[in-house]
Amino acid sequence: MSPFLLTRTLPEDATDAALRADVLHGLTHTPKTLPPKWFYDAHGSELFDQITELPEYYPTRAEREILIARAPEIAATTGARTLVELGSGSSEKTRHLLDALPGLHTYVPVDVSESALTQAGQALIAEHPGLGVHALIADFTGGLALPGTPGPRLVAFLGGTIGNLLPAERETFLASVRALLSPGDSLLLGTDLVKDESVLVAAYDDAAGVTAEFNKNVLHVVNRELGADFDPDAFAHVALWDDAHEWIEMRLRSLTDQTVKIPALDLAVEFADGEELRTEISAKFRENGVRGELATVGFELTHWWTDQEGRFALSLSTAGTSR
Ligand code: SAH
Ligand code: AVI
Repeated sequence: MSPFLLTRTLPEDATDAALRADVLHGLTHTPKTLPPKWFYDAHGSELFDQITELPEYYPTRAEREILIARAPEIAATTGARTLVELGSGSSEKTRHLLDALPGLHTYVPVDVSESALTQAGQALIAEHPGLGVHALIADFTGGLALPGTPGPRLVAFLGGTIGNLLPAERETFLASVRALLSPGDSLLLGTDLVKDESVLVAAYDDAAGVTAEFNKNVLHVVNRELGADFDPDAFAHVALWDDAHEWIEMRLRSLTDQTVKIPALDLAVEFADGEELRTEISAKFRENGVRGELATVGFELTHWWTDQEGRFALSLSTAGTSR
């Protein structure tokens, strides 16, 4: 194979149809919601990369610390020849795994962000001559088909992105990942952990306002793609901790009574002063919860590693024989 292949598994009009369906559904139901995958156009992916460098946003640093410490053990335990990474973004932390996996044949980064995949893929082939990189522009919640590369396969889902799925979505998603794997394949999962509310809220409401800009980016995406007239300045960024669900919720609060027109959907959406649109949940986990959710779909958690401060966990699970 050529060293860098970029495959669009979804035609562009399917992405467009999915955005229309999500916006129509999310803005005509109460409370209003939008799925977080629409944050990540080229600008949103860039803003996320800036978030990972913020002093308040600890998950990236904590997960990198674990990866650096555990990459040799992950390599020895999995013997992976194909590394599939879901929601790979910049693939920045993944370099620690790629460097540690001696027999790796192909790296398969999967993301909805074409710009992130292209940038990361080109940098990776320069750094790892001989490694096949087969990037997939795909929605990881939507029936993935993987290239027929050699096993064992290791699927990595880093960053705590699993926490951006609702509990029912997580179960469906994990079952679909399990269905892609054969006995002996593995799943490496990053999960942010429950901790002090003030630390969590600060991580999602940084002093420099980068997370606020990231949150409002979804409005720019809907304006550009569907011709809407959202005024991002007419919404405030909100990050709050939901103690019952153990998740952070990001919302956009309307600062006035307003009507937003979305011509591509022939829709006018009313926002009351103070009304909130939920744009993301970011669930935080405990070891037993993660173990249980994985067991439900046929994964056996064999390793649980945290950073020194116990803020974030990486777990390694094997695909068992029962599904
Ligand atoms: N794994 C990286 C990036 C995390 S940001 C890290 O740990 O730093 C989340 C990434 O997942 C983004 O690159 C975003 O484009 C991607 N993403 C979000 N929802 C997705 C979906 N449904 N399907 C595929 N990629 C998705
Ligand atoms: C990608 N995901 C794990 C991030 C998170 O922490 O939930 C997205 C994010 N939202 C706000 N800041 C970062």
